[in-house]
Amino acid sequence: MSLKFQSPTGMHDLFQEDWNYFDKVKKTCQNMADSYEFDRIETPILEDTAIFEKGTGLNTDIVEKEMYSLTSRGGDRLTLRPEGTPGIVRSYIQHGMQSLSKPVKLWYFGPFFRHERPQAGRFRQFYQFGFESLGVSDPIIDAEIIQIFYNILKDLGFKNLLVEINSIGDSQCRGYFRKSLMSYLRSRQSGLCSDCKRRIKKNPLRILDCKEEKCQRIKKGAPQIVDHLCKECHDHFKNLLEYLDEKGLPYSLNPYLVRGLDYYTKTVFEIYEDSEEGKQIGALAGGGRYDDLVRMLGGKPTPACGAASGVERVVNLLKARSKKAGLKAKERTSEVFLAQVGEIAKKKSLKLFEEFREAGIKVGEALHRDSLSAQLKAADKMDVKYVLILGQKEAIDDQIIIREMKSGNQYVTELSKAVQEIKKKIKK
Ligand code: HAM
Repeated sequence: MSLKFQSPTGMHDLFQEDWNYFDKVKKTCQNMADSYEFDRIETPILEDTAIFEKGTGLNTDIVEKEMYSLTSRGGDRLTLRPEGTPGIVRSYIQHGMQSLSKPVKLWYFGPFFRHERPQAGRFRQFYQFGFESLGVSDPIIDAEIIQIFYNILKDLGFKNLLVEINSIGDSQCRGYFRKSLMSYLRSRQSGLCSDCKRRIKKNPLRILDCKEEKCQRIKKGAPQIVDHLCKECHDHFKNLLEYLDEKGLPYSLNPYLVRGLDYYTKTVFEIYEDSEEGKQIGALAGGGRYDDLVRMLGGKPTPACGAASGVERVVNLLKARSKKAGLKAKERTSEVFLAQVGEIAKKKSLKLFEEFREAGIKVGEALHRDSLSAQLKAADKMDVKYVLILGQKEAIDDQIIIREMKSGNQYVTELSKAVQEIKKKIKK
């Protein structure tokens, strides 16, 4: 019986075509990070399990059902990071970033792991990019974070973006709201899904986020947290909306948006693509303020705000769109191709290839092929402007043929001048 190994469920191999898109997303993030002065950070993929239990929250789906956790040989409880924020906060505290000038602005791009039921836009290993701003409580920061994610998605070509915003208050106003929500939900308990029945006591706010149809119906009549905000949270939200109006950033209020992580305070938001595919795939980005998280993980009380976006979701929509428009992802581009005939030429080609690479000129090759016509075919496929031919005679004489593909004109030059000649031609 032969074994057929498969990648783990919900985890995918990423090929060149995927990386063309991933790199584009990353570059767009990098540009945005440069404009808004965020520094790159990459935290370990494994973290102490307790930072997610304490940070993300014991009663969240992520911690209850979705973490890949292990006990190391040394007895440490570790978890493959299901999200980035607790790790960033751990690093902020560990490296004394509290003493840096505020806000401390950090961004990241990397893989995350959640044992979810795989479906459209939901994987068990997925990439996120995230931006976190720590140390400032002013809602101008919340506006900046929303703007950054909106800009990145716009720059990637998304046109119909839907920004949904809500405020879920802080520990003061939420206590009162929780009570009134619980009494509303208790009276309708029998109509809720089994998960939500359980949530009433432990995490009633999450019921507002449940996607089950029967829970959605009950949600529609539920009390709204915005009506229960204390003065500070109310003013924060009002100022944020004024900043967004001032920026001309379109948004809509969603009084039932609560998000599935426990650390949020005040602002929460999500960004969707307003299309059939977009709705199926789910939120492209989500985040909010988390003013208590640094304290909860052992640091000094520090206000903070941030968000993250799922790269596969973004990429899948970009791919679907370019397919519709008949576009193909960018192909490899070389302007020059190096062909060789014979053993001496093959060996000399290796050095010449390195010389071109050092000069910053990308050269196509098919060094594994011996026949010239097969190599020229490959050059044709790559649509290069020039082919360098190192034949047996040329290799012995330390010479090389340069052929211009369009005209078919060719001439012989010294091998040592090949890089210089091509440089002149393609104006490097
Ligand atoms: P989140 O909403 O859990 O927030 O995830 C952020 C984004 O990651 C989602 O909007 C979605 O695009 C993507 N995502 C989440 N789960 C999956 C999955 N299983 N497969 C594919 N994509 C997924 C957070 O992770 C917070 N750390 C965001 C944050 C940063 N809040 C404050 N700072």
